Amino acid sequence: MYARLGQILLRSARAPLTARRSQPAVVRSAQAIRPFSVSPRQHSDKLFLHRDTPENNAKQTFEFDAEYTKKAKEIVAKYPSQYKKAAIIPLLHLAQKQLGWTSLGVMNTVARWCQVPPMRVYEVATFYTMFNRDPVGKYFVQVCTTTPCELCGSTGILEAIKSHLGIDVGETTADKMFTLVEVECAGACVNAPVLAINDDYYEDLTPKSVVQLLEALKKGSPPPPGPMNPDRKNCEPVGGLTSLTTEPTGPGFGVRDDL
Ligand code: FES
Repeated sequence: MYARLGQILLRSARAPLTARRSQPAVVRSAQAIRPFSVSPRQHSDKLFLHRDTPENNAKQTFEFDAEYTKKAKEIVAKYPSQYKKAAIIPLLHLAQKQLGWTSLGVMNTVARWCQVPPMRVYEVATFYTMFNRDPVGKYFVQVCTTTPCELCGSTGILEAIKSHLGIDVGETTADKMFTLVEVECAGACVNAPVLAINDDYYEDLTPKSVVQLLEALKKGSPPPPGPMNPDRKNCEPVGGLTSLTTEPTGPGFGVRDDL
């Protein structure tokens, strides 16, 4: 439909007024067929559709274990009995923490806990991309590739991970250790480039330090989260302060003497 509309618009823009009246409405030349957008088509069906798989179908049930049942009860108790549905997101998070991902069984169990039709939970779980509706590896690696990280070299970080692990974005390593995804701003731009592994952020990365990080994770001894640059502890400028370098002036600074 859009290609056809494009043909019509292109033709009307190019043809002189007199010619426009005499020619057919649609130009059928191959040259006139041009899409409005040249960006690649993204198929997002996966985000919204469920297809039964051996590990993810209605027969695979899920229950909170003893520890997580206690936490789930605490969460539900925070809401008035008529608003149990408010616990959908925290319970989904809790269940994903226990299982590692958000299966159909997880969603059905959360629906039971919140006393809502399962569809209400499906709607939430399919809307928020942080609910992984497919199994992920032990380490869920989310590389930020939004503008500040991109300007600081996130493409190199992504390439280093891909070539070191031998997987592409959206894939999991054969040993089920790592799943790699690309995400939008992780909210830590000040220390770009940044990636998140499970609940931890690793920042100020280079292609070399990210490979060292992956190796440490493989050995089961991850470094403390935060900046990977040894010259930075938090988010202060590398190389020392560039502002607020003098003693603060006291009250009344710059005020006229007669005031
Ligand atoms: S752009 Fe990467 S953390 Fe904000």
